[in-house]
Amino acid sequence: MARINSCVFISGAGTNLKNLIHSSRNYNFPINIKLVISNKKNALGLTFAKKHSIPFRIINTNERMFETKLLNEIKRRKISLICLAGYMKILSRDFIKNYKGKIINIHPSLLPKYKGTNTYSRILNNGEKKTGCTVHFVDDKLDSGKIILKKSFEIFKNENINTLKKKTQKAEYRAFSEAITKLYMES
Ligand code: GRF
Repeated sequence: MARINSCVFISGAGTNLKNLIHSSRNYNFPINIKLVISNKKNALGLTFAKKHSIPFRIINTNERMFETKLLNEIKRRKISLICLAGYMKILSRDFIKNYKGKIINIHPSLLPKYKGTNTYSRILNNGEKKTGCTVHFVDDKLDSGKIILKKSFEIFKNENINTLKKKTQKAEYRAFSEAITKLYMES
């Protein structure tokens, strides 16, 4: 099976990237990570790219034409899937149009609930009994594209932001890889 060339965008810890790298070491996993992009030069997640000898680029989003540079880089490496894994910048409409149906994101809530940031505190403040994570396609509206897969779990009475984050991320690691498998195995 020819694997899909993919690129992972990060901004921070990169634990989802780490898990995607781990999944992609299995040759039956449909994607191969050919590039990592970070908009933060000190993003911890870059250590995983380095450790696994995956090429990475740091993109200064304040630079003029940065998206053109980004697109060139991605096209040069024949990337067919972009995974946003904690990438904290909004991509432009044009960029998304160029890669329509080929950009996916992981979000720490059961979409369409709790789009945007500060999800954990909003979930806890609202006294939710259940939460989870969602993998979805990216369109030009925030956290709104077609849903590929969700994973849910119960929120306990004594839950706090830290425990909720831990549980959500644990679910995310499985959800991201399963969503990618679902995308390519079922098409
Ligand atoms: C994840 O929880 C994801 O849902 C959100 O940002 C977080 C990134 O974590 N979009 P990491 O950088 O993968 O550790």
